[in-house]
Amino acid sequence: MNAFLTSLGAEFSFSLSDAQNLITAFHEEMRLGLAGKPSSLKMLPAYIGRPSGRERGQFLALDLGGTNLRVLAVALDGRGDARVTAASRFTVSEAFMRGDGDALFDFIARCVALFFEEHPIHYTKPLHLAFTFSFPVAQKAVNAGTLLNWTKGFCAAGVQGRDVVSLLSAALARRGLEAIRVTALANDTVGALMAKSYSDPACDMGVILGTGTNACYPEDPARFSQKSVLPGLREMVINMEWGDFDRMDVNRYDRRLDAATLNPGRQRLEKMVSGMYLGELARLIVCEMIDEELLLNLDTRSFFERDHAVTSEDLSQAAAGGDFFCQAGIKGATKRDRETFSRIARLVSTRAARIAAASIGAVVLWMDPNLSRRHVVAVDGALFAKYPGFPETMKALLAEMFSDTPKAISLCLAPDGSGIGAAVIAAVAADLHSTETIP
Ligand code: BGC
Repeated sequence: MNAFLTSLGAEFSFSLSDAQNLITAFHEEMRLGLAGKPSSLKMLPAYIGRPSGRERGQFLALDLGGTNLRVLAVALDGRGDARVTAASRFTVSEAFMRGDGDALFDFIARCVALFFEEHPIHYTKPLHLAFTFSFPVAQKAVNAGTLLNWTKGFCAAGVQGRDVVSLLSAALARRGLEAIRVTALANDTVGALMAKSYSDPACDMGVILGTGTNACYPEDPARFSQKSVLPGLREMVINMEWGDFDRMDVNRYDRRLDAATLNPGRQRLEKMVSGMYLGELARLIVCEMIDEELLLNLDTRSFFERDHAVTSEDLSQAAAGGDFFCQAGIKGATKRDRETFSRIARLVSTRAARIAAASIGAVVLWMDPNLSRRHVVAVDGALFAKYPGFPETMKALLAEMFSDTPKAISLCLAPDGSGIGAAVIAAVAADLHSTETIP
């Protein structure tokens, strides 16, 4: 048992020197991505810079990023304050995630209609809607972009390679909602950055640590070669799509997990870090330990054979002292079994938090190699917001990495970045009149 756990600890370790290697590789991939060369970091321009904080008005936001779809009304007061004035939440069933693309967009339009039934809000027409669509999108303007590939278990047919704003607008029109104009398209990372920087100009990075993971930051337009810079824009937010970063050592559980996904070989960092996968890694370890007669007993094996039988919420509850086996109705677990499960949860989540922190360190160093100013990182997502100890583990690695400048990087929870941030994007887009496409 001890030998197994020691070797497991080694397989899931992510040391300071691993962090340093990650930073070097991140910078190489960032350079390639910005130069438009093949890279595991796509570095996608978002066609927007950060807000001034003076943007104001009322906006509608639509947020699709995973199994939840939200429709929100957001009011910006022009003095850095943003308020959600109405919100409805819907669950996207697996049938829509994996079915026909038009059916998915019809479902989305139906949810918008239901939102108006629930909240009879009066707006002047046209009504501006910002669409937070948290998947890799190659944008051509702030309100146009094609889906490059699905992630996070989505594979709805007929959407890849198409402009998601056109698909949404067509679905809204089919539903009789032509008065709604899709003014802005945004990634959730960009939403988090915009939401926080609306009130804090020191915020220069948005990160999501939830079902999926990703980050964005404002880049100097002179540093990227793609002919996508809008004239007059002093900075361009870049959606890195860091979930696809693939220059890290993986272990046999990572390989096994990857092989069983809808997108093998892709989103390698995401599969080591994000909430969709941490439970799966733990489940694969549990299965192996049952087979080796180190955990539970063979009768419990069938429970753990089911994909996603263990979720990151389960790991989170175990980290908070909960008894997963009891909650799952697994009989006969001993105290030692429970301790082993908590240890597995800790190994998997600690590695995730350390990789996430090293990745943040890499981006901050790219923006500011001498750490000569303060950087506020807006972070959203359940892993950061709810997993016990996750932010602390990240902060501990950052403190180890930057022991000379311990206060240079602050990680701040930016709750509801995708709702509020989308409204800020719509407001900035309206101010910029930057909706034309660059050839
Ligand atoms: C997507 C990103 C998104 C992230 C967090 C990833 O799977 O590719 O676009 O920002 O999840 O939601």
